[in-house]
Amino acid sequence: MPTANATPNILISAAGEDAAWKKALVERLPKANIVTGDESYDPETIDYAMFWKQPQGLIKTLPNLKAIFSLGAGVDHVVSSPSLPTHLPVIRLEDAGMADQMVQYHLYAALHFMRDFDAYSTQQAGANWVQHDVARISKCRVGVMGLGALGSAVATSLSNLGFSVSGWSRSMKAIDGITTYAGQETLAEFLGQSDILICLLPRTPETENVLNSTTFSFLPKGAAIINAARGAMITEADLLRALDTGHLRGAFLDVAVTEPLPESHPFWDHPKIRITPHIAAATRFEESADQIADNIVRIGNGEAPRGLVDRQIGY
Ligand code: NAP
Ligand code: GLV
Repeated sequence: MPTANATPNILISAAGEDAAWKKALVERLPKANIVTGDESYDPETIDYAMFWKQPQGLIKTLPNLKAIFSLGAGVDHVVSSPSLPTHLPVIRLEDAGMADQMVQYHLYAALHFMRDFDAYSTQQAGANWVQHDVARISKCRVGVMGLGALGSAVATSLSNLGFSVSGWSRSMKAIDGITTYAGQETLAEFLGQSDILICLLPRTPETENVLNSTTFSFLPKGAAIINAARGAMITEADLLRALDTGHLRGAFLDVAVTEPLPESHPFWDHPKIRITPHIAAATRFEESADQIADNIVRIGNGEAPRGLVDRQIGY
């Protein structure tokens, strides 16, 4: 990792939130020269770029970058850029206030299915007063795909509430109260005991379309899906088919392949789908700017930054 200047030059391109990011970073890095994309700057001098959905082609205009910081937990918007040099370090946000929000989102969504709120909202539309037995929470099996900064927090909270939780990741994890699985060879077994499946994987070439007709068929009949990771993890046509045949009970989706979700998209008025507009966990300026400033100091001291992305595996 190259070391930094004492007064690094930083460019922010943050999809309409440049000014808020600049304010948060200026407070923490008073010696840095920080510019936003609409200010004038010499691209040759930029040391660090802070990106969220940066304009296409911007990376290749910055020949002397030392690192790119993603202003989110995901880095798919950066590493998918064809002009990203192979060895340029990419650094992501780790939790930075998002884990709590993910926990809240998933508690709501998991209880939606476990307490039959999907059925009651259909019943309300037909003025239908019918009571269902309340399932025991310990009998409701939740599977969490991705046990990183966010997935492990969600898995632990759901387990603490009484759900029977298992988790699946690339490398084996040990988390109190959670049954863990690792690797492709355990995927079918993990899915086979997930009544509610939560996806908190990063988007990489390996995880794209991981939820498709074949993997849905491994889920128990009547399983529900919650996806607040990236839309690309689900083959959307396969999801619609699995819902329409009754194999899946419902889907709670915060993300979609195309965002904003087009007005004509069949997800909007599907009776078994609940949609939220990519709000499961917002980036918090304060915690995130603390993390980024700390990393810039670490790089300046010749230390490895936290949240460094493995460019080989893509997250
Ligand atoms: P993370 O810390 O990098 O964790 C990723 C987890 O996925 C790790 O446990 C990893 O396994 C596992 N994984 C990766 N590739 C895998 C594979 N091929 N097979 C099995 N497991 C695999 O990521 P995070 O911070 O928890 O964030 C997860 C994602 O949430 C982000 O990438 C982003 O897309 C999404 N997100 C969405 C929102 C929203 O508002 N909707 C907000 C923030 C983040 P190992 O532990 O073995 O590495
Ligand atoms: C949001 O989607 C993120 O990756 O932080």
